[in-house]
Amino acid sequence: MLPVRRTAIPGPNSLALADELRRSENPQITFLDPLRRFPVFWESASGCLVTDADGNTYLDLTAAFGVAGVGHSNPRVVEAIQKQAGTLIHGMGDVHPSGVKVRLAEKIAARAPGDLGFVIFGLNGGDAVEAALKSARLFNGKPGVLAFRAGYHGLTMGALAVTERADFREPFSGQVPTFGRHVPYCEPRECRLSCGSRCTAACLSFVEDAFRDHRDTLGAVIVEPLQGRGGIIEPPSGWMAGLRELCDRYEILLIADEIFTGWGRTGDWWACDADAVVPDILCMGKAMGGGFPISACAMRPGIAQAWGESTGEALHTSTFLGHPLACAASLAAISEIERLDLPHRAKATGEYFKMRLFELKDRFPEQIAEVRGRGLMLGLRFDKKETALGLVYDLLQRGLIVLPAGPGDILEFVPPLIIETGQIDFALNEIAASLNAGYPSGQGNKNVTG
Ligand SMILES: Cc1ncc(COP(=O)(O)O)c(C=O)c1O
Repeated sequence: MLPVRRTAIPGPNSLALADELRRSENPQITFLDPLRRFPVFWESASGCLVTDADGNTYLDLTAAFGVAGVGHSNPRVVEAIQKQAGTLIHGMGDVHPSGVKVRLAEKIAARAPGDLGFVIFGLNGGDAVEAALKSARLFNGKPGVLAFRAGYHGLTMGALAVTERADFREPFSGQVPTFGRHVPYCEPRECRLSCGSRCTAACLSFVEDAFRDHRDTLGAVIVEPLQGRGGIIEPPSGWMAGLRELCDRYEILLIADEIFTGWGRTGDWWACDADAVVPDILCMGKAMGGGFPISACAMRPGIAQAWGESTGEALHTSTFLGHPLACAASLAAISEIERLDLPHRAKATGEYFKMRLFELKDRFPEQIAEVRGRGLMLGLRFDKKETALGLVYDLLQRGLIVLPAGPGDILEFVPPLIIETGQIDFALNEIAASLNAGYPSGQGNKNVTG
C-alpha cells in the first residue's frame, strides 16, 4: 500500500485543528508552523500507512517515534485490547494486580537477555529510566551515573540528569539533579583515536578515567547501544563489550537503554546482542506496547533484591502501573514480534534499505555525507541542517513522514518493522525527486523533532 494525496498538505481539516489546538494547548508542546506547512493531524493508521484528517495517506518512516514496530493498529493488538477492555480496563497495579500483569512480567523475563528476570513496569520510557536509576542507587549505594554526550533518556527530572542535550536541561537549571556526568560516546566518524569499524578500546579511556576518578560516587553507567535521537550513531563493534568489561572491572552497573533499539529494531532482539553483551539493567518501552503506553525496567535478581520486599506500600509505583490494557496490548505485540520474526525481518529489510540509501548517496554526493545505522534504525547525514529539515517538509508533501535527528543534519528512518521493499522503493524515489527539485520548502525550523 502506497500513499495517496487528496488535498493540499496540510489540508483544510488539519489547518482548522491546528487553529483549535492553538487556543487550548500550552504553546510549547505541539509545533504549529507559522508558515502552516506542519503538522498534519492523524485520523487513522494501519500497518505502515497513516491517514490524516483530510483523507491524505502517508508512509510512516518514523513508526511514530519507533513505537509501531508491529505496524499501526496491528489487528492482533487491537483484538487483545478490545477483549481486555470488555473484562478489566484498570486494576490496582501494586495492590490487587491483574493476571495479565503476571503473564507480561513472565514474558519479559523470558525475552530479556541473561538473567534479567525481574521487572518494574512504567508507562513511558522516562519511567523505565527512573526505575533503573533508583535500582542502581539501591544496589550499591552510589548515586552517581555516567552517561554519554548526545545521549537521550527522556525528559522526566531523573532522566534529564543523564540526557545530555543542553536545550532540554538549561531552562530547568537548578531543578535538574546533578548526579549525572557525561563523557564522549564512540562516534566512529569523529573518533580521534582511529577506531574505524572495530573499537580499539582507546575511546573507552574516557569512561575508564571517569570510573577511576569518581570511584567513590559512581554506581552506574547508562548507555544507548546505538544512539537514536542523538543522530543514529552506531558505535564500532566491540565498544559495548569493552564497556561491559570495564563495568565488571570497576564494579559499576551497566544500564542499557534499549527503549528505542529494543524489540527487534536493530535486527536483533536487543541491540546489545550484536556485541553479546548482557547489561545489569535493561530499559525498554516504545514498541513493546504495540502503540499502547507501557515500559519496563528489567534487572538481575540481586538488584531486584536490593529493593527489599514490599511491606504494604511500594517504594516505587504509580496509579496505572501494570495497566491491564497496556499489558494485554504488550503481550499481543510481543507475540507478533515472535510470530513474524521481526528481528530477523528488520535485519534483512534493513540491509535492503541501507543498500538503497548508499545508492542515493552515490547519486547525490554533494548533499549526502553519510549513511548510518543498522537494521531498521537508519540515518542519512546531510551536508547541512537546512537540507535535512527542508526534506522533512517537502517529503510530507510527497506522502512521507520522516523526522530529523541529532543536531538536525540527520534524517532518521525507523519505519514499522513490517515495511515492504516496494514501500522502501517508493520512499527512495520520492527522496531522490525531492533532492532533484531542490527540496523546495527548505526553510528549516528546529522545532520539527522527534
Ligand atoms: C533511548 C531512549 N530512551 C528514553 C526515551 C524516553 O522515552 P519516552 O519519551 O517514552 O519517555 C527515548 C525516547 O525517544 C529514547 O529514545
